[in-house]
Amino acid sequence: VTGHHILGPCCVLCPVINTNCCFSWWGGVQMGPPDPILGVTEAFKRDTNPKKMNLGVGAYRDDKGKPFVLSCVRKAEALIAAKQLDKEYLPIGGLGDFTKACAQLALGANNEVLSSGRNITVQTISGTGSLRIGANFLSRFHGGSRDVYLPKPSWGNHTPIFRDAGMQLKAYRYYDPSTCGFDFRGALEDISKIPEQSVILLHACAHNPTGVDPKQEQWKEISDIVKKRNLLVFFDMAYQGFASGDIDRDAWAVRYFIEQGHNILLSQSFAKNMGLYGERVGGFTVVCKDIEESKRVESQLKILIRPIYSNPPMNGARIATTILNTPELRLLWLEEVHGMANRIIKMREQLVAGLKKSGSSHNWQHVIDQIGMFCFTGLKPEQVERLTKEFSVYMTKDGRISMAGISSGNVGYLAEGIHAVTK
Ligand SMILES: Cc1ncc(COP(=O)(O)O)c(C=O)c1O
Repeated sequence: VTGHHILGPCCVLCPVINTNCCFSWWGGVQMGPPDPILGVTEAFKRDTNPKKMNLGVGAYRDDKGKPFVLSCVRKAEALIAAKQLDKEYLPIGGLGDFTKACAQLALGANNEVLSSGRNITVQTISGTGSLRIGANFLSRFHGGSRDVYLPKPSWGNHTPIFRDAGMQLKAYRYYDPSTCGFDFRGALEDISKIPEQSVILLHACAHNPTGVDPKQEQWKEISDIVKKRNLLVFFDMAYQGFASGDIDRDAWAVRYFIEQGHNILLSQSFAKNMGLYGERVGGFTVVCKDIEESKRVESQLKILIRPIYSNPPMNGARIATTILNTPELRLLWLEEVHGMANRIIKMREQLVAGLKKSGSSHNWQHVIDQIGMFCFTGLKPEQVERLTKEFSVYMTKDGRISMAGISSGNVGYLAEGIHAVTK
């Protein structure tokens, strides 16, 4: 290969370089690896075993294993359709009613930050888009440091999101494989050594991929250390309501940090808690010193967003806003979130009961203690491979399973499989 011109056999006989036969603009582009999670789904689709299970992807399924559209969403859609609304562009920062309701949901309607107007919240392309706008904002304006500290491990997309925005990734200890729980001491030790003014990313609840969250007392100590180190906190809240079934309880850490004087960045997603995955509904908030600062930040967020996607899509934001702002629909939503979270909690219990019934003598308590959509089983890569090969159970190599993909119909089969490969 010379430049973009690939010398093929025809070039030997060719008196002039025939650009049409062997020239390519993209000759130097190498084949990239498949996405680790979406790759699991591809392999699952090819499998013909009728008992196959896809526990790779993080999308909620009902107890029959089917995608679930919330009734509050269906009802909101009907209300919106009846209004025959127009399809004009939204403002750069999104639908005003949405951003207001979105910030209220996260911070609590009576939060001082909202009454003093010192937050700016923009509508984003779900949680991923929110994190990326946040990462771009940091890259352009955070004078302190380019280092972003992620928990080890973290959601797989965090690294490329921040790296592609020009930030540098570092890590702090989070998960303890020996207990399948939170490495509290390790986390505190590492955080206490983070250089001042760096950015620290915290999962607000239902940590992905481990399902391990700090307890409230532990959050308090983390807040103290983060304050001592003068770190800039970026909360990723992709699962509000999905962890405990209670939206306020799941937002506790975010609200506590704000109360303690941290002027945080916050990413929100409505993919999981409203089941609006493909609608791409999210929010990005910057809590500022005062209203004047929030106006300046807002102006720069608009300048940042405009050349990326100009303005966000309206349909999902209308649905979420209608649910949040219509009292009956909001109530129905809260019940449905609770129902989803409860079904997952029940599956955790049934999986552990099934493992015991299969004869497993290991301690599986962590499966019950972990929270949210995912469970870090502690299975080793060889065991994961056997589970896939022998039982057609598909999951990521790190041993993470999506609890939302388990139903009362297949939990017994999964327990037998896990027992067989961990004997
Ligand atoms: C921790 C975390 N953050 C953010 C997201 C963003 O998801 P989405 O872009 O679908 O809202 C996810 C989704 O899996 C996640 O697990």
